[in-house]
Amino acid sequence: MKLPLPTRKKASPVDGNGDDPAAPVEQAGPSKAEKRAAMKTAAIHHSAEGGATAAGWVDQRVNASGIYTALLTRKVPKGTNWFYTLGSATMFIFAMQAITGVFLSMYYTPSATQAYASIAHLTNDVFMGEFVRGLHKWGASLMIILIFLHMARTFFFGAYKYPRELNWVIGVVLIILTMVMGLTGYLLPFDQRSFWATIVANNITASGPVVGPYLADFLRAGPDFSATTLSRFYALHMLAVPGLIGALIGAHLFLVVKLGTTAPPWVRAARPKGARPTEMVAAGVPVAVSDGPDAPDAAPANGAGPEGAAEEAGESTPDDAGPDGEVSA
Ligand code: HEM
Repeated sequence: MKLPLPTRKKASPVDGNGDDPAAPVEQAGPSKAEKRAAMKTAAIHHSAEGGATAAGWVDQRVNASGIYTALLTRKVPKGTNWFYTLGSATMFIFAMQAITGVFLSMYYTPSATQAYASIAHLTNDVFMGEFVRGLHKWGASLMIILIFLHMARTFFFGAYKYPRELNWVIGVVLIILTMVMGLTGYLLPFDQRSFWATIVANNITASGPVVGPYLADFLRAGPDFSATTLSRFYALHMLAVPGLIGALIGAHLFLVVKLGTTAPPWVRAARPKGARPTEMVAAGVPVAVSDGPDAPDAAPANGAGPEGAAEEAGESTPDDAGPDGEVSA
């Protein structure tokens, strides 16, 4: 049995009760608290039904349908465009790197004497080995390109501002870790080019301020650039860094779902009740516009106040009904 979800009614200035235009206008839809209560009841009801099938049994325990709804049917602001797919594209490439990396690791030997030979064997003899290696190698460059484009998108759309600063900071750590993946992976074939290039990179690291020399020592894993360095890079590349990236992507997505995405800067947000039209703000008109009983008596002449709220109104959060412009993803 399906429980009806609350729908939002639009109030009209004349049809309060259908006959009498002077009668009080009907309130617009249920309140936020009422909606939450109805959704909670529906969720409890659905989870009670969950035991009926195997999928329902799992869903009841892990709330997979809730996660699916939050990720794939969340509301996004009006004006959302292809630039918003760059984060997902980065994530897709990360997943591809993880999968191809697992297959490469089945043939790779992390030893200074055998690494090169194991890669040569993988490339020349193993079925589809060259293809999988190629995917992993090109994927590494593509991930760096996509992550930078995604960062540029969030920067130019002002998505780093309140309340998404933490997601920006997580993103900065992600971009550093992605570059560490590139550095540590480059050494693994242990051929002439990767060996000498990594020595250069290590020397550059050592020249960094304060932590530089310590970091370079840690990466070199000994007085010389040797077999221990390869083991260290291998452990970082296979385990530590991908694990961290995976965990941080989880936190990053959690915040995206929790906070919603930022509307493109060219999408004009809805004017909140009581705020003056932009033209009046620009002209320095100090009187308030009466949009209803909640309108303020006098708006500040510098236009401070409503704009911030208006900006937020143009964005989507899963909890809010949001402006009319919102569409489902
Ligand atoms: C492994 C790397 C990354 C993955 C998989 C990833 C994934 C995503 C996804 C799927 C979204 C939501 C949709 C979108 O806007 O594309 C998103 C949003 C966001 N990302 Fe990333 N991201 C990564 C790296 C970064 C970096 C390097 C930064 C910045 C330094 C960053 C900052 C943000 C911000 C601020 C948002 C919120 C966007 C908004 O509110 O419109 N991310 N990320």
